[in-house]
Amino acid sequence: MEEILNSKIAQEFVEKEDKYGAHNYHPLPVVLDRGEGVFVWDVDGKKYFDFLSAYSAVNQGHCHPKIVNALTEQAQKLTLTSRAFYNSTLGEYEEFITKYFGYDKILPMNTGAEGDETALKLCRKWAYTKKGIPENEAKIIVCDGNFHGRTITVISMSTDPDSYGGFGPFTPGFVKIPYNDLDALEKELEDNNVAGFLVEPIQGEAGVFVPDEGYLKKAYEMCKAKNVLFIADEVQTGIARTGKLLACDYEDFKPDVLILGKALSGGVFPISAVLADDDIMLCIKPGEHGSTFGGNPIANKVAIAALEVVKEEKLAENAYRLGKIFREELSKIKSDMIELVRGKGLLNAIIIKPKNGKTAWDVCLELKNNGLIAKPTHDHIIRFAPPLVINEEQLHEAIGIIRKTIEQMS
Ligand SMILES: Cc1ncc(COP(=O)(O)O)c(C=O)c1O
Repeated sequence: MEEILNSKIAQEFVEKEDKYGAHNYHPLPVVLDRGEGVFVWDVDGKKYFDFLSAYSAVNQGHCHPKIVNALTEQAQKLTLTSRAFYNSTLGEYEEFITKYFGYDKILPMNTGAEGDETALKLCRKWAYTKKGIPENEAKIIVCDGNFHGRTITVISMSTDPDSYGGFGPFTPGFVKIPYNDLDALEKELEDNNVAGFLVEPIQGEAGVFVPDEGYLKKAYEMCKAKNVLFIADEVQTGIARTGKLLACDYEDFKPDVLILGKALSGGVFPISAVLADDDIMLCIKPGEHGSTFGGNPIANKVAIAALEVVKEEKLAENAYRLGKIFREELSKIKSDMIELVRGKGLLNAIIIKPKNGKTAWDVCLELKNNGLIAKPTHDHIIRFAPPLVINEEQLHEAIGIIRKTIEQMS
């Protein structure tokens, strides 16, 4: 790793992380120090296009002034009350976000995984109190290749050995079916103990798998016919990333339970949310679920600002328009190293065919040297997800870097 780091300064940062931090990540060898909009700078002052956006948390761009301002203003007034008391920002945020997404209620949490856990608990509670499933028998259908986070229950749903291997025993109550397979869903829905279907509208971590057009809507209708909750995990796809406010909006239906995270704060704070209507949300009673930090005053102000930026700066429209250009231009690159380009809006990926011993990881190292950072997901897929504030000129410049890099390596 040493020789590909830019400098001795960078080397020292890496060594410190390596020595004192758990080795639960394998970062690209670049040490970031500053960010603004679509760009980040490393500790040596080298500038990069950020084409990961912290896994789509920084949709609004790095250090967006409006969001940072909301954070710093509230941080000087009141930071945390816990939910033992009311606070002067939570109701305002709850009204804002429920109207924004069209639901009766929100349950505020912090991380995406907690959002998923919350949705699972909510679904089970609804199953026992409303649907009449016998206690402890509720099942939730999930999809092969899913990624919903890293907690024990969440990895109990995973089909990726890197996620679950060595961490058992697992939480029961999940049924795994292939993604994008309506026949498999139909079969499992025959079981009266099925309470919910949890799905990512596009599987991000799996490598930006876009299901067939109509899959989500049809799955939703099938769930409705069996009184099963359709739970959309839009932690990565939501908040304008795929060219609509929600990826489910492409198929014009409203999930029964919606999970949001990441860009809900524009990347300045861990904020997640579960949204649902009263009939479902009010199944959870006082004392049955919560989090010390969920709904804290800083988060409430930050999330309002972050969601306002999405509309004010028309980020969904920008992602939709520039995403088309991005895929068109990448498809024109003549290289047998690119097997496939896929995605929606500005959530895209290329599948790399290794050449001369060079893999997706090597491509990412070269991209970094040429001024653009991205990360492989699995061995052969590179996800490209720039901040949605990117403009067309910047996009073309970034495409130029990708083209040059791939052509150099082919
Ligand atoms: C679809 C989806 N759900 C949940 C999560 C987990 O979010 P967090 O890392 O904030 O727990 C992720 C993270 O990548 C995700 O992509």
